[in-house]
Amino acid sequence: MSDKIETVQVAGAHLEVSWTGNGQLSRYPAVWLRDHCHAARSMNQSSHQRSVDTFSIPETLAPAAVRMDAETVFVTWPGEAEESVYPVSFLQDMAEPGLWTEDRPKSLWMAADIEETLPEVPHAAVMKEDGDGLAEWLELVDRHGFALVTGVPATPEATEELLKRVGYIRQTIFGGFWDFTANKAFADTAYSTVEIGPHTDGTYAIDSPGYQAFHCLEFDGTGGESIFVDAFKVAEVIREQDPEAFEVLASVPVPAQYKGDGVHLMAENPVIGLDRDGGLRKITYNNYDRAPFRLEDSRQAAFYRSLGLFNRLINDPAYQLRFGLRPGTVVLFDNWRVLHAREAYEGHRRLCGAYHNKEDVLSKLRLLHNRG
Ligand SMILES: [Fe+2]
Repeated sequence: MSDKIETVQVAGAHLEVSWTGNGQLSRYPAVWLRDHCHAARSMNQSSHQRSVDTFSIPETLAPAAVRMDAETVFVTWPGEAEESVYPVSFLQDMAEPGLWTEDRPKSLWMAADIEETLPEVPHAAVMKEDGDGLAEWLELVDRHGFALVTGVPATPEATEELLKRVGYIRQTIFGGFWDFTANKAFADTAYSTVEIGPHTDGTYAIDSPGYQAFHCLEFDGTGGESIFVDAFKVAEVIREQDPEAFEVLASVPVPAQYKGDGVHLMAENPVIGLDRDGGLRKITYNNYDRAPFRLEDSRQAAFYRSLGLFNRLINDPAYQLRFGLRPGTVVLFDNWRVLHAREAYEGHRRLCGAYHNKEDVLSKLRLLHNRG
């Protein structure tokens, strides 16, 4: 659609805008328009918070007059001395009725699609003040579900500084920024050297961590390769090949719990969380942490069959991207999409990292995207 208005006129209780070019029409109802007035008396100019009293707007409101210049449409209301103002760009954004959406395309992958050229950005670029390197890193994470930063000094301080550029670090029962060797400090298997199968973290959290970062600071041993699985890819394969299993995985709320270390955390989510349009929103899977629950017999059997299919695919090497995390390389991944796993290892390993909340990283992405 054009970004210029050809004509604007009052049409009963609507404002009618005709866009240049194809003559497409947009019709904005008066109550909605009054509620979205951009003038200082209706919207706080620094916080963008609404200050108009929505509930005093009469349902029968109709515009009294309208005028425009190149950038702005001005509407006069009956009984109001001051005009309402609307940037043309705002009217363009709202040209059609529709729920709020953001278009952030994803590239779903199997191991062979991505293992030759892992998405990565050099540390020096990410730390530059211009924000270009940081934007590139977060855009890669958004598209592929993970991305690396290379050449990071192998210290907790440098890692924490890097991760704080992404957003503030989330506090959990494990603390904020963490730095550990296998030491059994917590009951969780992450604090051991045994193999850990593919999972998402925080299945027992009502708002599970949106992102997780790892940096292996020291490694002297064998094994311990990291494994990442694009569970969005797995979910789409299941949707296509076994719609019945997809339906079960997308609708049975699975409870999870963390019991120990002075807490008893619980939450429930389907394995495959969908958005309102049926797109993939959030994968929640950790078979170790699944809490007891019981379904009707036929549903129970379908649940085990569907979960079995999911488990088979995420453990299929074709879906598993494997690499050794080594000092100097930080991986940031989308914990609502990419499962992580670890082979058993022997020797000494020191790992540090952090969680970020989903909305904080997306906020950073928006700000970086709009910084120009
Ligand atoms: Fe984990």
